[in-house]
Amino acid sequence: MIPLCVPEVRGNEWKYIKECLDTNWVSSAGAFVDRFEDRFAKYMNVKSAVVTMNGTSALELALRTLNIGIGDEVIVSSMTFISPVNTIKYVGAEPVFVDVCRDTWVMDADKVEELITPKTKAIMPVHIYGHPVDMDKIMDIANRHSLYVIEDATESLASEYKGKKVGSIGHIGCFSFNGNKLITTGAGGMLITDDEKLGKRAKYLSTQTKTVLPNGSFYHEEIGYNFRMPNLLAAMGCAQLENINEYSNIKRNNASLYNKFLYNIKGITLPVEREGVKNIYWLYSILVEDEYDISRDELILQLKKNGVQSRPFFMPVHDMPPYKECKAGDMSVTDDIVKRGINLPSSVGLTEGEIKQVCDVIKSI
Ligand SMILES: Cc1ncc(COP(=O)(O)O)c(C=O)c1O
Repeated sequence: MIPLCVPEVRGNEWKYIKECLDTNWVSSAGAFVDRFEDRFAKYMNVKSAVVTMNGTSALELALRTLNIGIGDEVIVSSMTFISPVNTIKYVGAEPVFVDVCRDTWVMDADKVEELITPKTKAIMPVHIYGHPVDMDKIMDIANRHSLYVIEDATESLASEYKGKKVGSIGHIGCFSFNGNKLITTGAGGMLITDDEKLGKRAKYLSTQTKTVLPNGSFYHEEIGYNFRMPNLLAAMGCAQLENINEYSNIKRNNASLYNKFLYNIKGITLPVEREGVKNIYWLYSILVEDEYDISRDELILQLKKNGVQSRPFFMPVHDMPPYKECKAGDMSVTDDIVKRGINLPSSVGLTEGEIKQVCDVIKSI
């Protein structure tokens, strides 16, 4: 089976993790934690980076750092992995769902403003599958209405919007290093911000608001959280980060091969890269339109029969039982494309032969 998206381990992972084991620095203190934060901040060109246990905790931490909670509303896409929406509920706020664009499959910035109410505190653009949200429009709306922007960039690490890395444009950006992401620590996450004060606050909240008094006692001024990442995982993160440019180039190159082999098939819509952005094609995806000979779900079965793992697009969160009653705008594009989209194999280690094998199945139908 050609898998959907598996990790790539080809650098200093063994060496750095061994260093943790040899020196007994396995837990949440240790040089690799600071190094991973420091190097990630440099890579993203921001002032602060704070490691977390996963992407979900990075998003929750972002909301808590910005003091978003009970009675507040946060505008978020419905076509996403459910995690960002859940974190809005964790802090006691309410998600308000917005539609996505037909070409990029990410938050439609033109449909955001009509959903703003006096309760709105933040917009959470989720850059899914590798294509950036139109951040100029989002930042303009946020500035005019004094809202925060928390970017969920977990699926678009290394993607760019007008020369800026996705995640570094809003007030806070969040990443996941889950096994299928561009770089992985097994499980892990990162919060970034260009505002040093916010960065310090996020670190403070994520480490149980611990202050060490002169006599060595721990003092806690307010309720904190344990969102820390252990040194062992940060060591893996440092090794993975060393290869990020190579991995992102490979992803883009694989997308070009897919585009070449799938060009001009009736009923198959290919992913786009809008002018001024760099799409990392984290999961190379297509839409199966009515003109194609079989349905999206039948195509997934055909691919499986031919040794290819694929996955349908996320189901819309506004249709899930915990969120059915939440406010939502016009969802016509989301409701349409969630029935059509497929993620195709996108591992960094994918070969040209494997890409051709996937495309041959789609073409033969
Ligand atoms: C868009 C999005 N946001 C957040 C997350 C959560 O990350 P994690 O699984 O590391 O908690 C994921 C998935 O992993 C995701 O795809």
